[in-house]
Amino acid sequence: MNIAILGAVWGDEGKGAITHHMSKDYDWVVRFGGGANAGHTIYRDGVKYVHNLLPSVDFRHKHIKSYLGAGMVIDLEKLRDEVLEAEKHYPGVASTIYVDKDAFLVTKKHKEEDAATNAHIGSTNRGIGPAYKDKVGRCGYRVGDLFYGGLFEGCMPLGTLAVELVKLGVHFKYVMEMEEEFKASNILFEGAQGVLLDINHGIYPYVSSSDCCASGIVSSGFGFVKLAKVYGVAKAYTTKVGAGPFPTEYHDKEAEDLRELGNEYGATTGRPRRVGCIDLPALKYACKKGGITDLIITKFDILNNLGKVKMCLSYKEDPFCGSDFFKAEPIYSNMKGWTTKNKDELHYFINAVEKITGIDVQYISWGTDPEDIIKWH
Ligand code: IMP
Ligand code: MG
Repeated sequence: MNIAILGAVWGDEGKGAITHHMSKDYDWVVRFGGGANAGHTIYRDGVKYVHNLLPSVDFRHKHIKSYLGAGMVIDLEKLRDEVLEAEKHYPGVASTIYVDKDAFLVTKKHKEEDAATNAHIGSTNRGIGPAYKDKVGRCGYRVGDLFYGGLFEGCMPLGTLAVELVKLGVHFKYVMEMEEEFKASNILFEGAQGVLLDINHGIYPYVSSSDCCASGIVSSGFGFVKLAKVYGVAKAYTTKVGAGPFPTEYHDKEAEDLRELGNEYGATTGRPRRVGCIDLPALKYACKKGGITDLIITKFDILNNLGKVKMCLSYKEDPFCGSDFFKAEPIYSNMKGWTTKNKDELHYFINAVEKITGIDVQYISWGTDPEDIIKWH
């Protein structure tokens, strides 16, 4: 069985933790979009790790293999550092990591260009936009180019990094070489960012540059797989880094309090995240656009004991396109808060999510430990 786990809103919903928890039941965990702009926070044996390029695999289970797909843009220096760090804690893990030779290379030039030109949308400055721009403009290099000895003199420093990674045990492949193995495997596809940051379906131009939806799986060369479920992960409240519309945003003390409670600082950049209450019309929109079949709602523990919990149930007018979010007028409801993870206390909130989005909530999470991920239905 194959599944996808996508960010249902603006990323940082806890996909990493959920992927990490579920990964032991899969043979492969595949990243299919984005690059080192992603920050997936994982707790393993009580220690915090952040993966930027590597899938959020639980490395304690040696049978799981990682694949960095063709839709990604890859900074090999960052990848080398991440692999070395993983090797320190889990010797031999490098040989479970595979990189698609059709993935595009992020260079120093891309990172410099990002810092110089993309501040207005709050880019992570990891070179992502400029790399995808060069990819679409057909001027730049793919990982596979480094393996055609001497063909592209200009990327020799990157060639050295590729050799270093091969020596560490990392594999460089094409999906077609692996097709039979993939067909015989259970694959978890791990999204990056979130549907509202998707280049096609997000709130343009305040978006990332890649497919954050399940479509990215097909464009990474996995058109032959069937997905049993597309999980969308959302928080019990909303966060966003970077600029752009955020209809349910809190301000001043209300924002500071929630940011501190939820420790809402970017995993990649350390920036304070913008925060607000759950936005159900935005979530419904994202579920439709992203092809989400099932929901996972995280961070219920953060709102525990607050007395009341605010929800946005609708906008004055339903959104039909990204531009509608610029003028959204949220309509709110305050519900009695919960004080335990007892099902009854959370019922009203989860019922509202399911009723408005039309999607079942399959799991909720209540903290960073694996036992805090609770099956709801
Ligand atoms: P870029 O992907 O670095 O170009 O950034 C474009 C927008 O997407 C900015 O608003 C970033 O803050 C946001 N973004 C990119 N990656 C992530 C992520 O992994 N989580 C949350 N926001 C992200
Ligand atoms: Mg993140």
